[in-house]
Amino acid sequence: MMNILVVGGGGREHALVRALSASKKVKKIWCAPGNAGIAAEAECVAVKSDDIPRLLKFAREKKVDLTLVGPESPLVNGLVDHFRRAGLKVVGPTRAAARLEGSKSFAKEFMRKYGIPTARCEVIPNFRKGTYVLTRWPGRSVVKADGLAAGKGVKVCESQAEAKEFLYDVMEKEIFGGAGDTAVIEECLEGQEATVMAFCDGKTLAAMPASQDHKRLLDNDRGPNTGGMGAYAPAPLITPDLQADIEATIFKPFLKGLQAESFDFRGIIYFGLMITPQGPKVLEFNVRFGDPETQVVLPLLESDLTEILLAVAEQRLSGLRIRWSKQTALTVVLAAAGYPAGPERGRTVKGIRGAAKGEGVQVYCAGVGEQKKQWVTAGGRVLAVTGIGSSFKEARDRAYKAVAKISFSGMQYRRDIGAKAMEALSR
Ligand SMILES: Nc1ncnc2c1ncn2[C@@H]1O[C@H](COP(=O)(O)OP(=O)(O)O)[C@@H](O)[C@H]1O
Ligand SMILES: [Mg+2]
Repeated sequence: MMNILVVGGGGREHALVRALSASKKVKKIWCAPGNAGIAAEAECVAVKSDDIPRLLKFAREKKVDLTLVGPESPLVNGLVDHFRRAGLKVVGPTRAAARLEGSKSFAKEFMRKYGIPTARCEVIPNFRKGTYVLTRWPGRSVVKADGLAAGKGVKVCESQAEAKEFLYDVMEKEIFGGAGDTAVIEECLEGQEATVMAFCDGKTLAAMPASQDHKRLLDNDRGPNTGGMGAYAPAPLITPDLQADIEATIFKPFLKGLQAESFDFRGIIYFGLMITPQGPKVLEFNVRFGDPETQVVLPLLESDLTEILLAVAEQRLSGLRIRWSKQTALTVVLAAAGYPAGPERGRTVKGIRGAAKGEGVQVYCAGVGEQKKQWVTAGGRVLAVTGIGSSFKEARDRAYKAVAKISFSGMQYRRDIGAKAMEALSR
């Protein structure tokens, strides 16, 4: 029987906690910092997810058997290195390997070196050099701040002028601080985006069902970019043939690269893909579970998550058979008024319990707090409501039926999660 620590406090971590608590191997789960919704299923600890010294102290004192890290920042800052040095078992890449997410230029260099298909690019060391490089990129281009920027550091630019302006904001105005000391300019790829996550023990990759998320705030992909407003899995776009293609052209060289660089990567790898007419290409790596992709992938997992994570940590993944349900899952994110610019806090959230009782429904709490024994909004993305069904339509109907039972002042959500995919399926 194991004691587990989950680091983080969003909808992703709620889904992780729920999957772990279904395991026969688990005795106790802590979540740091967790949230008011997670508190019903795990003991929340008032330690921030990037406070590595206090997390380490806690894990030692409580004799935590396995730690799972949700967000990227503690991974990029070396949580795994510190825990391993203290003899603690942890799922996640070391600091060196986490640079695959922590630095876009580093990731691009890794892709180039090991032949992983990706957009052409140039690494920009300073603004002056950037303006010079841009004269050779006349049309559309994509400008990226090198470091972590909470999903805001990338802009798809329609013209040279627009690219130059964003590059100026990143490198001279330093709107993302040190994350913009270096930048990357990329060729703009055309196609549909998809996410493939995989368990990775450094030697073997075990793919999870492919998913697609919805980045924009409003229906029909309008409005500002967000952390993600909804997702579904498996994504019909990723046919078995395409999955085989992804494993041959991306998984294989990725593993080869890990080994050649001696990266200790025992965690979750997330491939952000563009499915182009020339085949799948990697837009970015994340070195952890996606949010909200986790909220549609984990409900489909039939095997014991704890056993998988242990196998990841102990490099036994090749001997494991992971079972996935044949169903579809679709999640709708409910966001606070004012999200993403300035979400309103402290609004009473009603109907969570009723919604969660629906057949084939999972409600995951993200920005949920407690005031006077009531649940209130406490962040931008408040809830992720997942429907699970034997067809795409059933999953979608179940999710939206559950959403209709939930309310808070200024609640925002997209009505068209999965709409395009459903249309494509019916053709
Ligand atoms: N080369 C590219 N071509 C077209 N679109 C891109 C390209 N790179 C990134 N994008 C778009 O920008 C989004 C964010 O880029 P990404 O590299 O995933 O950075 P992050 O998630 O760290 O913000 C992608 O989801 C995609 O929509
Ligand atoms: Mg991304």
